[in-house]
Amino acid sequence: MTQVLYLIACAAGPTQHIDDGVRAAQADGWDVCLILTPSAATWWEPRMEELVELTGHPVRSRYKLPSEKDALPKADAMLVAPMSCTTLNKWGAGISDTVAIGIPSEAVHMGVPVVAMPYFNQAQGAQPAVARSIAVLREQGILVLDGPDGYQSHPPKRGNPQAYPWGKALAGVRRQTGAR
Ligand SMILES: Cc1cc2nc3c(=O)[nH]c(=O)nc-3n(C[C@H](O)[C@H](O)[C@H](O)COP(=O)(O)O)c2cc1C
Repeated sequence: MTQVLYLIACAAGPTQHIDDGVRAAQADGWDVCLILTPSAATWWEPRMEELVELTGHPVRSRYKLPSEKDALPKADAMLVAPMSCTTLNKWGAGISDTVAIGIPSEAVHMGVPVVAMPYFNQAQGAQPAVARSIAVLREQGILVLDGPDGYQSHPPKRGNPQAYPWGKALAGVRRQTGAR
């Protein structure tokens, strides 16, 4: 049976082209469920139906109500990409005020393979909190793809969101899930 990947995207440059990430993961054999941060969801608000059609699942961006049932199938793996500086630092501090953080932050402690690949510039990355947050995520067993195996942050104003290396992110997911 096709395995389920939760692709979790923040309001960072490459999310403007998150459909590319969905297609790349689908081409890698995954049934992709997309989760957006509330900020990222506003970027896609006018075209959200396209993402629903592309994935074949509801796109989640807010915590459900206590009375609501789970909208998505159970995940076999999770990829947080692109991960913004804000989400990284909130996650590192244990703050899960978005469903985009809440789901992977718990799942990693329930045995689900979790991979995260950032996208932010070198000035954002120079904040001391960034290195600390990456270390905190790694301590928990999350594969954080920064550097040569993932995303190497760019100088301010020099990003190329369309060139975000989805292939490296998915190679990381294959590595983290072992068998695939
Ligand atoms: C057009 C635009 C592009 C942005 N690109 C990035 C980015 O590439 N990386 C990043 O960390 N933040 C970026 N930001 C800032 C984040 O959107 C902001 O920190 C936001 O609070 C992130 O929230 P989220 O992680 O919940 O999506 C951008 C903001 C705007 C308006």
